[in-house]
Amino acid sequence: MLSVKNLEVVYNDVVLVLRGVSLNVARGQIVALLGANGAGKTTLLRALSGLLDIHDGEVTKGQVLLDEKPIERWNAPRIVAAGLGQVLEGRRVFGEFTVEENLRVGGHTRRGGLGESIEEIYELFPVLKERRKRTAGYLSGGEQQMLAMGRALVAQPDIVLLDEPSLGLAPRIVAQIKDIIVQINEQRGTTVLLVEQNAMMALSIAHHGYVMEHGKIVMDQPAEALLQDSDIRDFYLGRGELATSYRDLKHYKRRKRWLS
Ligand SMILES: Nc1ncnc2c1ncn2[C@@H]1O[C@H](COP(=O)(O)OP(=O)(O)OP(=O)(O)O)[C@@H](O)[C@H]1O
Ligand SMILES: [Mg+2]
Repeated sequence: MLSVKNLEVVYNDVVLVLRGVSLNVARGQIVALLGANGAGKTTLLRALSGLLDIHDGEVTKGQVLLDEKPIERWNAPRIVAAGLGQVLEGRRVFGEFTVEENLRVGGHTRRGGLGESIEEIYELFPVLKERRKRTAGYLSGGEQQMLAMGRALVAQPDIVLLDEPSLGLAPRIVAQIKDIIVQINEQRGTTVLLVEQNAMMALSIAHHGYVMEHGKIVMDQPAEALLQDSDIRDFYLGRGELATSYRDLKHYKRRKRWLS
């Protein structure tokens, strides 16, 4: 249903960041996209969500097809209205608004009224219900991530793009976020494209996985196969253990180059 074909993206008219990316996200799947810092993962999500222009980026070649319709020239509101929601890097919430106000803002794009939607979000994230009158800026990092996800989900997207939802969060919170991703996929049938540095988390719930390196897809396999792959184990799973510090992990990745 979401298909990227040979996509090229350039920033500031000169910097070629995506160099012919192709991938498919089938309806109902969770697809993981892994890759070191600077590989171009966020850039791809920006291209899929119509957000390149605000970063001075541009699609110079290739296509993004949503149910076979080319959307790579659409603007962000039109893409959201077509059912493709996104949770951006850095879990942005409206810091001065309350939790509930943030959710109402997310819901305004929804076809039809808000209806039961906010209550459904509170069922997924009970902590947001407890904090409904709190100012979003004072929530913890994990709660802000949940709010950012809730804000995208309240519009009931068919597909949701998640950019590193576990980044910097404690293992207990990462486990909750992981369960919620599985829940929205299984219960609501939401398709998920999950960008993660936490390869173990992402591959343990994904159906399929891609690895991006220097703006190209270098691996494309069922998630289970990637979990067994020795390069993946060595590079992303820190020799079988989960990296505890993202900073160390990112550092390690910068030093090590592989598959090139
Ligand atoms: N607005 C921009 N203008 C110019 N170059 C940019 C811009 N945004 C990103 N880049 C460059 O594009 C490359 C890919 O960046 P991107 O943020 O897409 O990578 P990423 O895979 O998401 O990395 P990370 O894991 O650190 O989030 C990097 O070299 C980055 O410096
Ligand atoms: Mg990124």
